[in-house]
Amino acid sequence: MNLNGSWVRSIARTERGVRILDQRRLPWDIEWVELASAEMAARAIREMWTRGAPLIGAVAAYGLAMALRNDPLALDPAYAQLLDARPTAVNLRWALDQVRDHVRNLPLDARAAAAFARADAICDEDVALNRAIGEHGLTLLEQLHARNPDRPLNILTHCNPGWLATVDYGTATAPIYLAHDRGVPLHVWVDETRPRNQGALLTAFELAGHGVPHTVVADNAGGLLMQQGEVDLVIVGTDRVTANGDVCNKIGTYLKALAARDNGVPFYVALPYTTIDRSLASGSEVPIEARSGDELAWITGPMQTGELATVKVTGSAVHNPAFDITPARLVTGYITERGVTATI
Ligand code: MRU
Repeated sequence: MNLNGSWVRSIARTERGVRILDQRRLPWDIEWVELASAEMAARAIREMWTRGAPLIGAVAAYGLAMALRNDPLALDPAYAQLLDARPTAVNLRWALDQVRDHVRNLPLDARAAAAFARADAICDEDVALNRAIGEHGLTLLEQLHARNPDRPLNILTHCNPGWLATVDYGTATAPIYLAHDRGVPLHVWVDETRPRNQGALLTAFELAGHGVPHTVVADNAGGLLMQQGEVDLVIVGTDRVTANGDVCNKIGTYLKALAARDNGVPFYVALPYTTIDRSLASGSEVPIEARSGDELAWITGPMQTGELATVKVTGSAVHNPAFDITPARLVTGYITERGVTATI
């Protein structure tokens, strides 16, 4: 996507490995970091320098390739190390499986090159999948806008399901970018998405960069906006959809789905097939990542001088589950690369 006038992907090959944006510093600093080993890739995923379900899959795929470059016998330990980096998004396992299955029967001296090639292909496929999600979602947005053509289509989204969470375009943002580019008037309500503020920091940064009209709202504002008729549809991304269609996504998504149902607002989930986990029957089986309470207890941001400051907002005990489950019955439809479907 367009980053300060240059067209970039969120991950790209370098001589020693790959470069990623350090998302902990966005939107204040645009800093590319080079990952040159599997250990660095695992750390970048675990510590959320990089994040978002499809993107952590891509980073892990390159991590495995880098491990094999150092030691072609390291397939299983490196796979385990990278898989352990974060528990919830199934794309991480999917991408590691893709690389492992691609190289495991090859001669040792051919493994690294083949792993890098598969990781490159995973990235290209992710871009194509998101483009296709965007095209199908665009048709949906055009239809919804046609029902009320005199005002912009108001879309509410949660977390960052954008190009920063994928290789390019994003999942839930792909239809938004395409619709904006093709002249569908729209406006996006961006949930702040506490505690890490992926909405306020990342989604808003992306939408601003693309010129999409948007407004950041507190996580608790969505229900009122729906009651006031200010939301035409909700589109969110997802980290894992189980066989019955339950949707695991950033904490707070479920409450938006409940409010949407109560107010007759359509609730859509945008996802590529790489996010479906048919091995799990329902959302109750998804491992929910428990993140450090520090994410809630401390807030970081720029002071008036421009310097970053970190301040404490509570000294109490903190519980910080990072994801929740939206039952399939609350989902109006799934926007996938194959089309918009009522079931998965
Ligand atoms: O904890 P994060 O920031 O990695 O969570 C990411 C999300 O919840 C995204 O919305 C998700 O990966 C799906 S959209 C690509």
